[in-house]
Amino acid sequence: MNPHVGPAGRLSSDQVTSVLRAATLAPSTHNTQPWLFSTDGEGIKLYADPDRVLPVADADRRELVLSCGAALVNLRIAIRALGVHPATTMFPRRDEPDLLAVVLPTTAAPVDARSVVLAHAIPRRHTNRTPFAAKAVPPAIVGLLRHAAEAEAAWLPRLDERQLAGLHALIQESHLVQSADPAFLAEWQRWTRRAPTRRDGVPFAAGGTTADDDSWVLRDCGDRAAPATPATPPLVVVVGSFGDTPADRLRAGQAMQRVLLTATTHGLDASFISQPIEVRATRLRLRHLMGDGLWPQIVLRLGYGEPVAWTPRRTLAEVLVDRSSLSA
Ligand SMILES: Cc1cc2nc3c(=O)[nH]c(=O)nc-3n(C[C@H](O)[C@H](O)[C@H](O)COP(=O)(O)O)c2cc1C
Repeated sequence: MNPHVGPAGRLSSDQVTSVLRAATLAPSTHNTQPWLFSTDGEGIKLYADPDRVLPVADADRRELVLSCGAALVNLRIAIRALGVHPATTMFPRRDEPDLLAVVLPTTAAPVDARSVVLAHAIPRRHTNRTPFAAKAVPPAIVGLLRHAAEAEAAWLPRLDERQLAGLHALIQESHLVQSADPAFLAEWQRWTRRAPTRRDGVPFAAGGTTADDDSWVLRDCGDRAAPATPATPPLVVVVGSFGDTPADRLRAGQAMQRVLLTATTHGLDASFISQPIEVRATRLRLRHLMGDGLWPQIVLRLGYGEPVAWTPRRTLAEVLVDRSSLSA
């Protein structure tokens, strides 16, 4: 029996359905969609889906929590855009680590234009792995991306030429490490060579082109040669957090998605570069390269790409659970 979407706090059942749909449009590693939801009198609950861990690329579930953070901020923004305050508690129960957050749509709040604009960007944001146009991102927009990260208690550090060159080298090094690992390749292929009928994984059509002018290694597109240095490099940013606990990672996932939605509202496309952070040794060197104050959580490439295909999503019925079945 499918769990029922009931009202939650000030939201009607229909509104709960629409904000949950917005949550499920979040990005996730290999489109695993590692989230589950339930609704009851306490609000909308977001759980990690333990069946969707990537045991090789993400053994410590860091990216799973980042992905769930992206779903959480979508949920909060969608509720806020309805003129309701999303009272959010992260990790409310020590004995239930998979319960990542509870969001209670409480009091009415004036509809703020920013949330409405960001909510409209939720279905328009797609990972874009195509080569980007030789057009620099204006500094004013870079400033807005930094504010977006800071609004979720994370940070987009300014990287100078030396740090960017170091990051580029770490990306290539980590890519080689992962490419030489049969277990990693098997897991990656399992999720990126999905049958077209699947509602998860990265469909081949979302892989972008295989042009030679890619400026950074784009993993989900397939095996690629080391990229040449481009004439106009894309904007590359690192979302960093001040700690590396599960709560820090959940915040970083929210920051990552707020940065991506902000980018979307300004006509920017984005793709993810997770290799140098998935490989522990290169992650530590990237942390050092950034001055040892931040934990790197995700690298994003931003610029102006070609239109890309959508990735599928599981239905709401597939991501809704009865709370009782989770705590059993
Ligand atoms: C934490 C995280 C890491 C990701 N790493 C990569 C990556 O290294 N390479 C890549 O091409 N896409 C990466 N992605 C993008 C996912 O493949 C993408 O979000 C997913 O296929 C859903 O597609 P959408 O973003 O277009 O909705 C990552 C996404 C997340 C949230």
